[in-house]
Amino acid sequence: MFPNHSLLLREMTVEDIPQVMNIDRQSFDVPWSETSYRYEIRNTSYSYMVVLEYRRHRPIPRWQRWLNLTPVPERRIVGYGGMWFIQGEAHISTIAVHPRARGRGWGEVLLAAMVQRGVSLGATEVGLEVRVTNATAQNLYRKWGFQIADVKKGYYRNNGEDAYDMRLAVIRPAVQALAESRWNALTVDHNLVDQYTHNQP
Ligand SMILES: CC(C)(COP(=O)(O)OP(=O)(O)OC[C@H]1O[C@@H](n2cnc3c(N)ncnc32)[C@H](O)[C@@H]1OP(=O)(O)O)[C@@H](O)C(=O)NCCC(=O)NCCS
Repeated sequence: MFPNHSLLLREMTVEDIPQVMNIDRQSFDVPWSETSYRYEIRNTSYSYMVVLEYRRHRPIPRWQRWLNLTPVPERRIVGYGGMWFIQGEAHISTIAVHPRARGRGWGEVLLAAMVQRGVSLGATEVGLEVRVTNATAQNLYRKWGFQIADVKKGYYRNNGEDAYDMRLAVIRPAVQALAESRWNALTVDHNLVDQYTHNQP
């Protein structure tokens, strides 16, 4: 018996760009361009873009069963993220959840997945920048053990806002073990199909 919905975590493809840009525009003052997404997906060897896709499996009507048709689930992207792996550091370049889909733990799923992907690539540290006024995202990062390592003055060009440089030392075995056990719990809680964290390009 299948559950009537599931979440799929997978690499971002160029076909995902319109849905991703729609979330991006509703989430950030300075959204990425289509060219940036295409570049990240196609042209870089160090970029690991991810999408979280919500799938609803409708009950199969009797006529479909008679004709032996495979039901196609309804799918939509509810969140996305980006991670660069450079010289041993996994750097989270972006993360967002559709405004109507927030508060269900899906941002945490995306963050946890990028941490896991970084660990599987051999990262010693996971880093990111966050606006000093973005308390929601900071809460999420703190929940995962990220700490403020530095303040980058005037980092955001659109309004000169400062950024916190937040870091998680995944080289420490205790940090890695905790991240892994929380990741395993999240995959169960969210009925997650994971095609991202250990995917080989
Ligand atoms: C940040 C963001 C990705 C969180 O996604 P989300 O799916 O709503 O978050 P989750 O439901 O997974 O919540 C995870 C944690 O985030 C924090 N959080 C989430 N919503 C919050 C809110 N409204 N107020 C305070 N903290 C909040 C909490 O610590 C929460 O853990 P808890 O539920 O145990 O309290 C989402 O708010 C978003 O897309 N924001 C716009 C884009 C953005 O700012 N990205 C970060 C750039 S650095």
